[in-house]
Amino acid sequence: MEKHILKDRITIITGAGRGLGEALCYGFAEEGAIIFPWDIDSENLQRVAEQLEKKNALGKKGVVDITDEKQVESEIGLIESEFKRVDVMIANAGILYSYEITDFPAHQWRRIIDVNLTGYFICAKYAAKVMKKQKKGVILQINSKSGKKGSYWNSGYAASKFGGIGLTQSMALDLAPFGIRVNAICPGNILESPLWQTSLFQQYARKWGMSVEEVKRKYIEQVPLGRSCTYRDVINVAVFLASDYADYMTGQAVNVTGGQEMR
Ligand SMILES: NC(=O)c1ccc[n+]([C@@H]2O[C@H](COP(=O)([O-])OP(=O)(O)OC[C@H]3O[C@@H](n4cnc5c(N)ncnc54)[C@H](O)[C@@H]3O)[C@@H](O)[C@H]2O)c1
Repeated sequence: MEKHILKDRITIITGAGRGLGEALCYGFAEEGAIIFPWDIDSENLQRVAEQLEKKNALGKKGVVDITDEKQVESEIGLIESEFKRVDVMIANAGILYSYEITDFPAHQWRRIIDVNLTGYFICAKYAAKVMKKQKKGVILQINSKSGKKGSYWNSGYAASKFGGIGLTQSMALDLAPFGIRVNAICPGNILESPLWQTSLFQQYARKWGMSVEEVKRKYIEQVPLGRSCTYRDVINVAVFLASDYADYMTGQAVNVTGGQEMR
């Protein structure tokens, strides 16, 4: 692929303050996109915005809670009036609370659905309003392998991600006549991410009476290609799906799992 295949594309990335969202910001910046990072964590967001500024890739940062329809509508309105378009919306922000089903507090379950599913819907809805006028645009959801297969102690997360694939396909149908493509990416376990490093490894080690190293080995052994999913693996597929190389792809949920879903 040629370099800078996303040159000057106005790209909103949610949950951009850390983890995969932050990595997507830099990966898309490398391809020439102009980045609009959104997060609720204003300190992390500021750090990412400064990095993007140094790369000459910052549009405008947004302290935006994706579950708040008014905030999303207003921020997209500002981008449209100043920059005239929205080319790519990446719905990456996501949360996870892990409980066995009979212990799952309903308010935590609802919060997961609110951020992972309704937040995706709200961001896609307002991005699509601008994209319809342009007759072109790309909406990408960062889903998960848990969007296709049930997940132990993770009913809320899996339900939100399964829902995300239904939403992706339905929006793809609604928006195809307007030249807008909607796809999802389903990554495997990104063991380098803060989610794993600061929380899941310790939780699972305690739950299963294992060391963190043993937990890590257990997850890597589930992957036919024999390694963890990396940010770069996801960036490569996201850049492709956002680019014109993927012009004939819509309504898809693409696995980036090293083959893990076959096991
Ligand atoms: N880490 C993994 O192994 C993995 C694997 C598959 C899929 N995913 C998916 O990738 C995405 C990113 O995961 P991550 O591991 O980087 O997570 P993370 O927790 O490191 O980062 C998520 C970011 O989203 C922000 N956020 C949370 N709620 C928000 C809201 N209401 N509005 C705006 N921002 C909000 C957080 O402040 C945080 O900066 C998620 O959708 C997750 O489900 C992650």
